Amino acid sequence: MKKTARAHTNIALIKYWGKADAKLRLPLMSSLSMTLDAFYTDTSIEESENMEFYLNDKKQDEVATKRVFKYIDTLQHKFGVSGNLTIHSTNHVPTAAGLASSSSAFAALAGAFTRFYDLNVDNQELSRLARIGSGSASRSIFGGFAIWQKGHDDESSYAYALDEHPNMDLYLLAVELNSHKKKISSTMGMKDAQSSPFFESWLKRNDFELSEMIDAIKNNNFTKLGEIAELNASEMHAINLTAQPGFTYFEPDTIHAIKLVEDLRKRGIECYYTIDAGPNIKILTQLRNIKEIKKIFESEFNNVNIIKASFGPGISYLD
Ligand code: PMV
Repeated sequence: MKKTARAHTNIALIKYWGKADAKLRLPLMSSLSMTLDAFYTDTSIEESENMEFYLNDKKQDEVATKRVFKYIDTLQHKFGVSGNLTIHSTNHVPTAAGLASSSSAFAALAGAFTRFYDLNVDNQELSRLARIGSGSASRSIFGGFAIWQKGHDDESSYAYALDEHPNMDLYLLAVELNSHKKKISSTMGMKDAQSSPFFESWLKRNDFELSEMIDAIKNNNFTKLGEIAELNASEMHAINLTAQPGFTYFEPDTIHAIKLVEDLRKRGIECYYTIDAGPNIKILTQLRNIKEIKKIFESEFNNVNIIKASFGPGISYLD
């Protein structure tokens, strides 16, 4: 029988950027995210003759299926179940444009898998299973604000909800400046970033920045939330630039967009940026400023695509 799960993507306000264990995807730091309502993945699993994976209704070739089949194989071994499966995923996320579609993809896949085999797992365990597929997916099991505690092994590294239904005036504008597939995978980027002389400092700051972010959320303090998120993202990109050899996800338009956010702020339109493993920026702001920010970005960039998002829900099951 076919089983379908839906998971939303999340944006990290405190980033995960470094692995302690690549196979289990244990992180070197804890992270905190906002689950987004506008972007999600639906994944269904059913029995079939052969293993097949369809993404947005297109059958995927060997290269594209490798990571998904390896992941299914790992889970089947873990739970002592077997069989060939047809997996259909529909991504309501601009794929690989810096919006971490892997977070919703592996959360939905883990959810559909556990439903298909009727495995009795709670959301904490589901978060651990999603984590093995993609680190950021561990947080997409939960809505609102989620924290992925780094832990020290497979058992202790999972995400939990900090607040599933936040009552905060907070919006994210995903500004799609460049829709090219990212050139450096997050796995490669995280590995290379560890050669930065600032990597240790980045790790040392994690506890402090995480607790400041939790304070900002608890006190409904948008300014503090934006300032820490922007600093945390800049630190992540600074360690990429200072890795040996250095690299960056930034494109000229990324810098242009950063400057525009700074200019807007100077003019009293409060907004902050955060950037993941790609050239696009995401703006954090509040309801009253959305119209003006959109207008200014649309007049500065040709064909820019701006999508508004707010808090999204945790994992759900469609059949
Ligand atoms: O789990 P991955 O491979 O999607 O890596 C996520 C990396 C960042 O998006 C840059 C940060 C994060 O915590 O989501």
